Amino acid sequence: MSFQQPHAHPGLDDLLVSPAMMEDPYPIYARLRREAPVLWSERWQAWVVSRYDDVAASLKDKENLSNENRQALLFNHLSEGERTKLAPLRHYFAQKDVIGSDPPDHTRLRALVQKAFTPRTVASLGPRIRALASDMLGQAVKQGRFDFVADVAHPLPVILIAEMLGAPIQDRPLFKRWSADILGFQGTGKTTVELASVSQKSLLEMFDYMSRLIDERRANPQDDVITALALAEESGQRFTRDELLATCNTLLTAGHETTTNLIGTLVRLLLATGDSWSQLKAEPALIDSAIEEALRYDAPKQRNFRRIKKTHVFGGVELGENQMIFQLIGSANRDPERFDNPDSFDIRRMENDHLSFGSGIHFCLGAPLARMEARIVLETLLSLMPGCSLVEGGFKWQERVQFRGPGELWIKS
Ligand code: HEM
Repeated sequence: MSFQQPHAHPGLDDLLVSPAMMEDPYPIYARLRREAPVLWSERWQAWVVSRYDDVAASLKDKENLSNENRQALLFNHLSEGERTKLAPLRHYFAQKDVIGSDPPDHTRLRALVQKAFTPRTVASLGPRIRALASDMLGQAVKQGRFDFVADVAHPLPVILIAEMLGAPIQDRPLFKRWSADILGFQGTGKTTVELASVSQKSLLEMFDYMSRLIDERRANPQDDVITALALAEESGQRFTRDELLATCNTLLTAGHETTTNLIGTLVRLLLATGDSWSQLKAEPALIDSAIEEALRYDAPKQRNFRRIKKTHVFGGVELGENQMIFQLIGSANRDPERFDNPDSFDIRRMENDHLSFGSGIHFCLGAPLARMEARIVLETLLSLMPGCSLVEGGFKWQERVQFRGPGELWIKS
């Protein structure tokens, strides 16, 4: 079979780590799709895939790509001594959990986690989400102006996930810190031992905490996700303790930053784009399509990654075993080959097959929950502050390049 060797695109590669990637990555994505749809990035040490069809195919490719031990590649460039220092973190990344496994383990682990995410369980969280949203926005309305991220979009998902995992109310700040620390070193370019050590410390603290909670729930089952996971059995097989701890970490980190970004982005786009907010007030039935459009327009998780398990040819270039591939979801969602007027935010968009929750066997298990959180927050905002607007100059992006969403979003009630 013939294939091309990758061309060097130093200019484009430099743009991937430039401030423009935080401010507005979409012109960069457009160039990638046109000029180098499968690009080797020296800066990211990974293949970068940007067209919709390629991202979708790559997310579904179980034959050549793997989720197992994919983070191990992040440590490849470190010295032996640094790698030894990070042994506990590397051990954790070598564990299989629902997101970090391939079939057949993935099939078993996903079935176990799904037991904790049945439609009934998710629906039962509705009243709690509504109470949290009413409480938070009720406080905010009294202030007149408030930071929607700090007061609602950030705390609400973290409180919910901490409660789902069975943590007592006073321990919520721990979850917030652990989540930020654990994710901190990923997506910053090449891993540094300093940042990875912060992640390792918080991860070990979290595992210690969750291990005690799991023992407690096995002894005294309660009606929560952690009990369901601790007791989950599928074909007679339980989770191992390492798998269970890794899954708790996935739920904490996967279910939190992403949802914060979705809720913040949704409200920002509605208040900032033309008459979207008025349209929604006049026709609240548009809420669901507005949420899908926010998911498409500014994907909360901009990129996904896999380990290449077999050398193979993709998009005309050879991808080597044990290299990393980044699937640019944020770019796929703006591909003009797939979406009409991809750069316009249109809450009436009918066809919206975005890839923000992934695709294939790892499709996001928390998607119904994230959508419900977004819907309830929006309904509550519409009812408590129908006349709200953005405060001028009261916006800045959050700072992690793999995610996209507001870090601050000031609103006047
Ligand atoms: C807007 C919010 C969210 C976004 C954008 C998002 C995005 C994603 C994406 C792109 C994947 C695929 C990963 C891959 O293919 O490797 C994924 C998987 C996953 N997500 Fe989410 N997620 C969100 C919310 C949540 C929530 C709230 C939870 C749970 C509380 C959650 C739990 C999971 C789990 C467990 C997986 C792994 C599924 C598997 O590997 O089979 N996510 N998510």
